[in-house]
Amino acid sequence: MAQQWPQLIMERPNLDGLPAPRLPEHFRLRSFEPGDEAAWVGIINEAFDFSPPHPPTWFHERLGDGHFRPERVWFAVDDTQPVATASAWIDERWGEECGVLHMVGAKLAYRGLGLGKAVCVAALGQMAVEGRTRARLLTDDFRRAAIRVYTSLGFEPVYTHDSHRARWWAVLSKL
Ligand SMILES: CC(C)(COP(=O)(O)OP(=O)(O)OC[C@H]1O[C@@H](n2cnc3c(N)ncnc32)[C@H](O)[C@@H]1OP(=O)(O)O)[C@@H](O)C(=O)NCCC(=O)NCCS
Repeated sequence: MAQQWPQLIMERPNLDGLPAPRLPEHFRLRSFEPGDEAAWVGIINEAFDFSPPHPPTWFHERLGDGHFRPERVWFAVDDTQPVATASAWIDERWGEECGVLHMVGAKLAYRGLGLGKAVCVAALGQMAVEGRTRARLLTDDFRRAAIRVYTSLGFEPVYTHDSHRARWWAVLSKL
């Protein structure tokens, strides 16, 4: 049923007071480096359960809307392997002052360690560096773990469609 409806929207009304990213030992945060394309697609394929998986070249399709900059794509890295990602994006509909938290995912074996939250904090920090003053994101009703991360980071539901209020009530009551 939810498939026919527009995605859910969340907003952080400002980018003040972002928490410091917290990572378990042996993990670090870094932004995109040349050659990370396949790792990014690998994380997203696994996180979103894409079948068949997208090839590494899909990176350029998915992030090829003109907004890509290496410092906008963040990874949590286990030794050398990127295992979670989030990006600081823009959506013209929402204006230049609004950052968009985009393509958030973590590999299955690395869930629940705080890495998803840490990459989101890194992407939000990048938005602040670029002078944006608020952040939005699109999500889906069934993405409970993601919505838990977003609410813990100060994102709130935005109601732009008749269906949103009832759907948010259902989502938040199950968190
Ligand atoms: C969203 C995602 C990146 C989070 O990654 P992660 O590294 O596991 O996230 P964290 O460890 O930082 O936090 C996960 C939180 O979700 C909670 N959680 C996990 N599964 C949950 C579920 N089924 N229902 C509710 N909460 C859940 C955890 O308890 C934790 O919350 P807490 O810190 O308050 O205890 C990961 O779940 C993912 O890749 N999901 C699939 C892709 C996706 O939905 N992306 C977002 C698109 S908008």
